[in-house]
Amino acid sequence: MTGREKRNRGPTAKHEPSRSVDAAPARSSKQHRSHSAPADPARLAAFRTLRAVSADNAYANLALAEHAAGLSARDAAFATELVAGTCRAQGLYDAIIASASARELRTLQPAVVDLLRLGTHQLLELRVPTRAAVAATVELARTAVSERVTGVVNAILRKVGALDSDGWAARLRAERADADALLAQHPQWIIDAYADVLPAHELPQALAANNTPPSTHLVVRPGLADPAELGGEPLRWSPFGVAASGNPAALAAVREGRAGVQDEGSQLVAWALARADAQDGPWLDTCAGPGGKAALLAGLARQQHQTLLAGELQPHRALLVAKALAAYPDPKPVVIAADGTRPAWPANTFARVMLDAPCTGLGALRRRPEARWRRKPTDLDALVPLQRALLAGAIDATAPGGVIAYVTCSPHRRETVEVVDQAEGVEPVDAASVLPELPDAALGPYLQLWPHRHGTDAMFLALLRKTGANQ
Ligand SMILES: C[S@@+](CC[C@H](N)C(=O)[O-])C[C@H]1O[C@@H](n2cnc3c(N)ncnc32)[C@H](O)[C@@H]1O
Repeated sequence: MTGREKRNRGPTAKHEPSRSVDAAPARSSKQHRSHSAPADPARLAAFRTLRAVSADNAYANLALAEHAAGLSARDAAFATELVAGTCRAQGLYDAIIASASARELRTLQPAVVDLLRLGTHQLLELRVPTRAAVAATVELARTAVSERVTGVVNAILRKVGALDSDGWAARLRAERADADALLAQHPQWIIDAYADVLPAHELPQALAANNTPPSTHLVVRPGLADPAELGGEPLRWSPFGVAASGNPAALAAVREGRAGVQDEGSQLVAWALARADAQDGPWLDTCAGPGGKAALLAGLARQQHQTLLAGELQPHRALLVAKALAAYPDPKPVVIAADGTRPAWPANTFARVMLDAPCTGLGALRRRPEARWRRKPTDLDALVPLQRALLAGAIDATAPGGVIAYVTCSPHRRETVEVVDQAEGVEPVDAASVLPELPDAALGPYLQLWPHRHGTDAMFLALLRKTGANQ
């Protein structure tokens, strides 16, 4: 955070609530207690979203869609900026609030912590004038929590507003060993995981890319729609997609299930599996929910006169896969709820197998601003054994000579290279030679995509050929 170099945030930075926040202190306490007419719908929607994220582990984007429903486009844009920015910088704001208040955050009511995070974001990142930011947050506290907490919110936010972002950076650096990580808006363990894979000089760009919301990419279901139908600029490498030029839901192809939203990185790893050298035979997607890659693979399989079987552990997510595949004509791809570690399909059967493994999602931090603070390094202790078991199941399902795509939306070595390097009964296929048009992605025989290099999520791909008797 370097305040003087701060980006101009356009209309959101200039947002003024629809009722004057400066009027708040002059009202009677009776008026203040009114819950019927919140002063600022954007801030209220943002606060309710943050509460859902903090208290209920909600996904910020889903909770925001619920709480911002019915807002004007301007208020919705401001609420989005408030939620995304506050979630991304949560660790930093918590450190600032703790320092300003000389209190540990756990001694404050959780709703008050969310109010203070929201106010801190307005003060330090959006540079709303101190008086307006404090008054708006106090009014929000009164409307959404209780009159009782307005004093503490007012007092702490005034202390936060006493320094600008540069001043806070200097103070945190003097107070904390992890200040630089917090100022980059990442926990140290995630920075360490990135540093383990990237050259040091690229690290700042990679972290900055995680703090920049991605553009929306669309993808066709091959054979059912043409990318030209979607408008927008063609993607750099995937021939199946475009960068969305408007609201995807406004497109007939999307509404009819002939196209969908999918990051170019996901398109590329599915395309790589379809392009790898393998014999004819059925295709399998073992962890298919909610169905993004299965929807692309099903069309690519049809083009090669093959069929796709899609498996997914969670029945409700298997239903989403079926929905994603619904536009394909008969014979439709088959979708089943199944545990990929205990295959419901015969061994040595499939020519191409996609294993898009459950992972930390550290490669999609652009999309899930809250995820970086929710994820813990210990999550890997449960994920890695599952990933190994799923890979063993995928290898078992593959016909000798067939190819497995092991994919994660994470660059963390423990769940990428270290999982595939220890797999038995397979040998790596040089993935860069399967996607030769893609620059700067080779990681040994594997591929690692990056937001700052490729404009995609940080997807990892290993293509593994099953060795064995029938080769
Ligand atoms: C990274 S997501 C897959 C995303 C999907 N391929 C797509 O492109 O839309 C991983 C999925 O694996 C599922 N999963 C977790 N454990 C599983 C298991 N043992 N067997 C099958 N699926 C599993 C999760 O429910 C989740 O839907």
